[in-house]
Amino acid sequence: MRLRGKTALITGAARGIGRAYAEAYIAEGARVAIADINAEGVRATAAEIGAYPVVMDVTDQASIEAGVADAAAALGGIDILINNAALFDLAPIVEISRASYDRLFAINVGGTLFTLQAVAKHMIDTGRRGKIINMASQAGRRGEPLVAVYCATKAAVISLTQSAGLDLIRHGINVNAIAPGVVDGEHWDGVDAKFAAWENKPRGQKKREVGAAVPFGRMGTAQDLTGMAIFLATPEADYIVAQTYNVDGGNWMS
Ligand SMILES: NC(=O)c1ccc[n+]([C@@H]2O[C@H](COP(=O)([O-])OP(=O)(O)OC[C@H]3O[C@@H](n4cnc5c(N)ncnc54)[C@H](O)[C@@H]3O)[C@@H](O)[C@H]2O)c1
Repeated sequence: MRLRGKTALITGAARGIGRAYAEAYIAEGARVAIADINAEGVRATAAEIGAYPVVMDVTDQASIEAGVADAAAALGGIDILINNAALFDLAPIVEISRASYDRLFAINVGGTLFTLQAVAKHMIDTGRRGKIINMASQAGRRGEPLVAVYCATKAAVISLTQSAGLDLIRHGINVNAIAPGVVDGEHWDGVDAKFAAWENKPRGQKKREVGAAVPFGRMGTAQDLTGMAIFLATPEADYIVAQTYNVDGGNWMS
């Protein structure tokens, strides 16, 4: 019960890693609001795991402000934010569309920054120390030929984590990030399908390839990440500021 008495808002938590974080936080005694653009999904997941559902689009400023206010009212304030909502896309440089670029930056970068900003304001206004955890990726550590835009958004998340971490620590708010490697689930089912189309591979082959390349010997699971997400939200992590931690089975060492 390392998070007993704490409250958390987790974005993009209707499914996948965000849902696993919410379940892990609840198991550690936190009360959790989960926010997602998928209204039906977030309500169903919240009912299944005992969280408070918030329908929120992280690309819409009014939706962020309403969602943060709703979560804060329901939970009695927000002590922890996990900025987890994101979108993936893939194309060779010469095929990247302006629409895909705009959408990925709006969700992955703008969504991270402006949700962080709204929750940081709430934490400062209510005089609480807080923990903010951004979801980066190994994709933010190094470019990839077909993944330019997503990689750039996650590099931006690492940079925002540094700037926000340095700015907000004077308010007692720790901002850090987690950079997963390849995590199996519905997200990677979609990634695999996109690689299958662009690299002319049978479905499932890309997953097998990336899993075999992980030093640990397999793709990650959402549960492989929950320990770091819990730790970064505890007082044991008070002295950790503006860092991005790789949790990736040994893929990267930056
Ligand atoms: N799965 C991986 O291999 C992997 C690897 C590295 C990093 N990550 C990162 O981890 C996080 C979670 O990934 P996942 O695999 O669970 O992805 P996912 O696609 O399963 O979940 C993302 C969630 O975000 C929600 N979302 C999308 N747009 C939104 C918006 N505008 N407003 C609010 N919610 C929105 C979706 O509805 C979905 O529920 C993401 O930040 C992702 O980039 C994932």
